[in-house]
Amino acid sequence: MPRELDELQRKEAPAAGNLGSPTGRPRITADAVHKAYQVGDDTLEILHGVSLAVEEGELVAVMGPSGSGKSTLLYCLAGLEEPTSGAVSLAGKELGPLSRADLARMRRTSVGFVFQSYNLIPTLTARQNVALPYTLNKAKAPTALIDQTLTTVGLADRMDARPPSMSGGEQQRVALARVLAQRPQVLFADEPTGALDSRTGDVVLQELVQIAHQSDSCGLIVTHDPSVAAACDRVLFLRDGRLAGELTGATIEEVSAVLADLSQTED
Ligand SMILES: Nc1ncnc2c1ncn2[C@@H]1O[C@H](COP(=O)(O)OP(=O)(O)OP(=O)(O)O)[C@@H](O)[C@H]1O
Ligand SMILES: [Mg+2]
Repeated sequence: MPRELDELQRKEAPAAGNLGSPTGRPRITADAVHKAYQVGDDTLEILHGVSLAVEEGELVAVMGPSGSGKSTLLYCLAGLEEPTSGAVSLAGKELGPLSRADLARMRRTSVGFVFQSYNLIPTLTARQNVALPYTLNKAKAPTALIDQTLTTVGLADRMDARPPSMSGGEQQRVALARVLAQRPQVLFADEPTGALDSRTGDVVLQELVQIAHQSDSCGLIVTHDPSVAAACDRVLFLRDGRLAGELTGATIEEVSAVLADLSQTED
């Protein structure tokens, strides 16, 4: 670890009583998570033993250079990819021993995931896309909440539009509304504000903060934007599939300084 980073980490670690009100009860834990992909004859090691904990009421950002494994980490933590080794628990339940059906049920009921690609169904309207988790769960969709959430993300007049007729930013907001309307206990988001203008990005960020800060909830979001990371309670830095630093209650300048350091020391 570069010396400056090490110093920053020590200086910032761990400040109690920060923005959120973590209770000391972890909702997401990773213990020595490794992930490798087999590509032809080659084994690509992407995550090299990542351990972390996100507590109830906490919103944590993951940052790092492109290709450092941020999305892969989120997929492993959300139970969408199986780690090659190591353990992941969500809301106190270890994912490894769960059957496929139990895992799917848990993802549907407790976990919200905003993907880097929006994963909208092109033939469904914005409203129907937002209602999808309820439909899949054979539950009655709360139409008032869905309309309110679409309005919050600035899509009041696009509720009946279908994704192919929407801009990238609009599609991203539908995907976000879908997760927000689910009120998930554990929220994952991959670049949730990446395609948004700054005003909409701010609204969305406030929503994410609010959801994560509810008791019994938490959130982990990947972002390249230091101002988004600085709005989170804690920032974890990933480099080459390893945690390379951590800041608590950081300012935009502090986040930017560590990022610059990380990209300078990349090989
Ligand atoms: N299914 C896969 N098979 C093979 N390699 C993969 C697979 N998924 C990801 N990778 C590789 O793993 C590495 C990390 O990818 P990942 O998508 O996690 O990066 P990232 O940090 O999210 O990057 P970005 O900021 O560009 O989104 C990359 O080199 C990528 O090509
Ligand atoms: Mg990614």
